[in-house]
Amino acid sequence: MLLSPNQQLLPLTAQINDQQHLTIGGCDVTELVKEFGSPLYIVDELTVRTACQQYEQSFKQFYDADYLVLYASKAWSCTALCALVASEGLGIDVVSGGELYTALQAGVAPHTIYLHGNNKSAQEIKEAVQAGCTIVLDNWHDIKLTESLGEARVMVRVAPGIDCHTHEYIRTGQRDSKFGFDLEQLPQVFAHLRSGSLKCVGLHAHNGSQIFSLEHPQDLPKILLNYYKIARTEFNLEFTELNVGGGLGIRYTEADNPPTIGAWVQAVTQGVKSACSELGLRLPKLLCEPGRSLIGPACITAYTVGSQKVIPGVRTYITVDGGMSDNPRPITYQAQYRAVVANRMHAPNAGLVTIAGKHCESGDILIQDIDLPAVAAGDIVAVLATGAYNYSMASNYNRLPRLAAVLVQGGKAHLILRRETYSDLLRQDVMPPHLQR
Ligand SMILES: Cc1ncc(COP(=O)(O)O)c(C=O)c1O
Repeated sequence: MLLSPNQQLLPLTAQINDQQHLTIGGCDVTELVKEFGSPLYIVDELTVRTACQQYEQSFKQFYDADYLVLYASKAWSCTALCALVASEGLGIDVVSGGELYTALQAGVAPHTIYLHGNNKSAQEIKEAVQAGCTIVLDNWHDIKLTESLGEARVMVRVAPGIDCHTHEYIRTGQRDSKFGFDLEQLPQVFAHLRSGSLKCVGLHAHNGSQIFSLEHPQDLPKILLNYYKIARTEFNLEFTELNVGGGLGIRYTEADNPPTIGAWVQAVTQGVKSACSELGLRLPKLLCEPGRSLIGPACITAYTVGSQKVIPGVRTYITVDGGMSDNPRPITYQAQYRAVVANRMHAPNAGLVTIAGKHCESGDILIQDIDLPAVAAGDIVAVLATGAYNYSMASNYNRLPRLAAVLVQGGKAHLILRRETYSDLLRQDVMPPHLQR
């Protein structure tokens, strides 16, 4: 049976070699750490490609009209990954001038790039319009700024009023959200767009992230498509595209059971098809913008174990050489992870330990209470499913250089992000003359 990458804890190519080492993409994780340093993001090319292909094939299977899958590059924006997903036929969703610049530098076709954001600057909008991208208008300020540039291809983002059961920081579809127009405002927006210079091709909404329910993606199209009918009948606006956002969850621990990519696409397309037939609308070009489910399961972060602290009867802390600066998700929203000891994969578990990061912050805990084999300094602990919102939210807290990342495939590892150096850390530092010595 075809494995849906978002249902796996490990990348699809994960194996154990005869030294009991974890291998990804045919590369020994322990050897990769020796070659590229520690900690290290290791991205499995086949897992990313498989996830892209499953979105593509599912749309082909379940939708009889045009579609475009966009990679939500906020999940991990860098040139190699933008180029990788684009080579599978995907477009890119960007939310800043920096993400836009990255996608363009990666060679992504501008007409497949969509610029989001609830506070785009005039400059960011200008860069996107001049490149030939579509602007997703989030508010009246956006409309004013975009109109000031003359003509532009746009969509309108709405807060669809759907409350999903996910962490409040990654919930976006509810009415009380900073993103998008309130549904009640849409007639006013349509009336404005009817006579202006902007070419509005449709609506966009995104429910939230790490969502397991298939009800929400199925309900969303109906809410949006109702307004396509209103736009046509009352405002003479013919919308041709519909963007239903991203949000499909992934497996971080055994307790997570997300639907497959195929099941998600089937639910969304079913929602669109039945709403269109009820409302007498033609099927729109259907867009979605997954981030986490494309890149999350493809990556592991390999750390080297350093110190340990045993508090008898309380807890054993195992400290690794990274932490909240390379993976801020646990401290930000209590995200859960699983880990393995990558250089002793067959060693039996020896009891509960807590994997701590090296930052000066008590909350810098990567995994609390995980049953692991006994480890010693120098062992390699790999935290799983770290591809989404790790590198992209990484920081230099405590002036730790950002990690290197490698893309692995067929026994070869390609560096896709260089490890930062101490001099990189000082790149933006400026010493006023009176402090120089
Ligand atoms: C507008 C928008 N689109 C797409 C995504 C990607 O979501 P996910 O990574 O859950 O697929 C996000 C992330 O929150 C988002 O805000």
